[in-house]
Amino acid sequence: DESPGEFRVRDLSLAESGRRQIRLAEHEMPGLMALRRELAPSQPLAGARIAGSIHMTVQTAVLIETLTALGAEVRWASCNIFSTQDEAAAAVVVGPEGTPEQPRGAPVFAWKGETLEEYWECADQVFTWPGAGPNMILDDGGDATLLVHQGVEAERAGTVGPGTSPGEPGHSAEGEVLRETLRRSLAADPQRWTGIARGIRGVTEETTTGVRRLDQLAEAGSLLFPAIDVNSSVTKSKFDNRYGIRHSLLDGLNRATDVLIGGKVALVAGYGDVGKGAAEALRGQGARVVVSEIDPICALQAVMDGHQVARVEDVVGEADFFITTTGDRDVITADHMAAMKDKAVVGNIGHFDDEIDMAGLAAWPGVTRVEVKPQVHEWTFPDGHSVLVLSEGRLLNLGNATGHPSFVMSTSFTNQVIAQVDLFTRADAYDVGVHRLPKALDERVARLHLDALGVRLTELTKVQAEYLGLDVAGPYKPDHYRY
Ligand code: NAI
Repeated sequence: DESPGEFRVRDLSLAESGRRQIRLAEHEMPGLMALRRELAPSQPLAGARIAGSIHMTVQTAVLIETLTALGAEVRWASCNIFSTQDEAAAAVVVGPEGTPEQPRGAPVFAWKGETLEEYWECADQVFTWPGAGPNMILDDGGDATLLVHQGVEAERAGTVGPGTSPGEPGHSAEGEVLRETLRRSLAADPQRWTGIARGIRGVTEETTTGVRRLDQLAEAGSLLFPAIDVNSSVTKSKFDNRYGIRHSLLDGLNRATDVLIGGKVALVAGYGDVGKGAAEALRGQGARVVVSEIDPICALQAVMDGHQVARVEDVVGEADFFITTTGDRDVITADHMAAMKDKAVVGNIGHFDDEIDMAGLAAWPGVTRVEVKPQVHEWTFPDGHSVLVLSEGRLLNLGNATGHPSFVMSTSFTNQVIAQVDLFTRADAYDVGVHRLPKALDERVARLHLDALGVRLTELTKVQAEYLGLDVAGPYKPDHYRY
């Protein structure tokens, strides 16, 4: 390793603690470590320059060091202002061989508690390479991809427009900060993003919300390069989104408020993969869970799983916890919060902060806000009742805790690394559109995680395989199977 050059993290002296946590995480991330052993000798990512934007946690540190072990260079930012673990960021910059005085790792631009301005500056930094620009993006939620697309749009128009392209951050204040970043960039170099976009072979996207934005770009015909939807790998969305949340939602709630969950009423908005994990976790603690849904299939699933299904309005004065998992906007409104029980806890685990109407809350006549501790705020209404809002409406499992545990992130990130390698080494095989990894690779990711949990998998006999019309080695399900 060489010097990381420029970087921006909280405090490099945290690196030693970060390194110890990374070592523990490596033990819990068998898929990533298997890819290191298997692929490092052939260096499939040699020449890859990856602009990375994903929560800068301990688990992401293991991802970054897997990508660099395979030959990649990276520049990294977090995809959320509150989700960085400062010790992990420091450890990545210092690197396994470096010291805080002589860092030898990878450049990271991330710290816990960025302002929105700093957030978009960091996003800009991961595209600011010395010499040749980046040729790959690894994204979570689509902000890095959005920056390139809106940059190119602005350069084509010669001006930064109102931000009408699909995937605009729902949060209007955030859109304005992004536009200001683009205005400065346009003034400094009117061809910058066009040049960057030309060099990008593709993006691999981590989460449901980012994939929705990619699909919108593709539908509008404005997607600029191929994309792999990592979220739709079964070993991503059916594990991270569900079992990851089942763990990290409680972690966030407990660290934030330490309010007893048992015996209480918890409203979970959305019963997709994340909502199912959230409802299971809350019920596991003894809460009575009420689900709200717009999709009749998911509503039917929720009721069959034994949850009451109602509208937010129906239980607004009754619930003790309100957890949004929809990836939608305006799910909890200021009117809802005004009608809640005293000290109700309001938190979001969907990707963006527009699920809870924070702007409407702040504008409520006579409302006051007190910081109980960082990322926990008590908002008191003129009638005297208050609500506790976690992480200012941003994803609470990463803002109030440290996100998902390593093992489940290993399944997600093994898909990420496989997607990066495939897109980088076989770029010609991907047209400009949104692609998924083949099921054989999905099954392989699962296989890499069985031994660590003591699983003895049954093997098909040749006769059984013929009877079922399968290959002994898989894939075992058709693509449309839903698990
Ligand atoms: P999903 O699409 O499986 O589930 C979302 C559900 O919300 C859908 O069933 C939809 O019908 C429902 N919904 C939409 N609008 C609604 C409304 N107004 N009221 C009630 N229900 C509504 O998506 P998934 O995978 O569960 O992800 C949800 C969000 O969580 C996304 O933003 C995703 O990016 C994010 N995510 C966050 C993670 C974290 O660690 N915090 C991890 C994984 C995903």
